[in-house]
Amino acid sequence: MKKFDVIVIGGGPMGLAASAELAKSGRSTLLLEQYQFLNQKGSSAGLSRQFRLQYAQKYMAQLALDAIPYWDELQENTSKLLIDNVGSLWFGDPEISSQEGGIQAAMKVMSELDIPYSKLTAGQIEEQFPFKNIPENYIGFFQKDGGIINLQATQEALYNICRNASNVDLCDRTAVTNIESLETGEIIVSTAGETYVSEKLVITPGAFINDILRFFGLSVNIDIWEMSSAYYRKKEEIKFPTWFVFQKPQNTSLFYGFPEEDWAHPGYIRVAPDIPDRIIQDPSQRTNIPSTKSLGFNEEWVKNHMEGLNPQSEFTSTCLITLSNNNKELLLDTLPDTIPNNRNIIIYSAGWAAKFIPLIGKIMAELALTGQTSYDISQFKIDYNTN
Ligand code: BEZ
Repeated sequence: MKKFDVIVIGGGPMGLAASAELAKSGRSTLLLEQYQFLNQKGSSAGLSRQFRLQYAQKYMAQLALDAIPYWDELQENTSKLLIDNVGSLWFGDPEISSQEGGIQAAMKVMSELDIPYSKLTAGQIEEQFPFKNIPENYIGFFQKDGGIINLQATQEALYNICRNASNVDLCDRTAVTNIESLETGEIIVSTAGETYVSEKLVITPGAFINDILRFFGLSVNIDIWEMSSAYYRKKEEIKFPTWFVFQKPQNTSLFYGFPEEDWAHPGYIRVAPDIPDRIIQDPSQRTNIPSTKSLGFNEEWVKNHMEGLNPQSEFTSTCLITLSNNNKELLLDTLPDTIPNNRNIIIYSAGWAAKFIPLIGKIMAELALTGQTSYDISQFKIDYNTN
């Protein structure tokens, strides 16, 4: 059996981030990924994600602030820009709050945390940004530190840190076939070809969480949203920040979008509906086929409200978002105390979490190495089901 100080299961951005942190500690680390590294099969499919500080919950906004130094540190490892801080615009019906928060609640939290923002009327939004026909009762704000995350470059930067570290072994196309946590303190991880042993396990399976928890006789209730997105050709020189619009009815009218970037279909701008095409329980149920209904809502929004874009969806794709179905923003915890060595088995899944990638890596590495973290993760405790 090959022995490692820490074994990380799941080589998406969070597993890469945890391994990149462990690389610094000098501890021998094995990262196992069932598919290829940098694949499109999980929650990190696609090219871009939003970075934002505003949240309706103070602890989430604080976590986004806490992530900034780790993004700065990661940025030093690559010449590619990881976050383009073009700012974040939220606008819409002031009464609405969704999974992402709500405009009024987010402004209150930003004020409490001294996060600067400027409040906008519908008229000011139309004056300052290339949106049109914004209903008069809409309000909004612009927060300058928000931006667009280059998701591929982020993963590449983390992957390269791991690849260059002599204490990290990267092993892809290697599914875990069993895990046994023994009373002796050893945790045995089996794959088709090898058996590994460690005293610390970090599990970052994203949507595949129940495939791993079953080895411990556990599961969690999650919903996996398969969501569509598309790009729209620019007809004139226009500049958008990252943005999100809150509107009624929420099941057809929430949209978000991004600026143009040279690494994401230059000449085009991404707009996406923030509604699930379908809600599935297992990634194997993913269709990879963007819903014409969702893209229809998207095109209608682009046609009516976004100046200078051709409202014909192009470069369409889907991605998976894993969500805790008891409304927790993230799931980050150890295993329950019915499992031997539970404090040494740390698990992360779920949430709109790309903005936290390097911070979650740091937290997971701290928990694995010291059993503690200085960040407040008390809101992310996992309610396990015993199978
Ligand atoms: C987010 O920033 O969390 C987010 C952005 C767009 C859609 C959904 C979530």
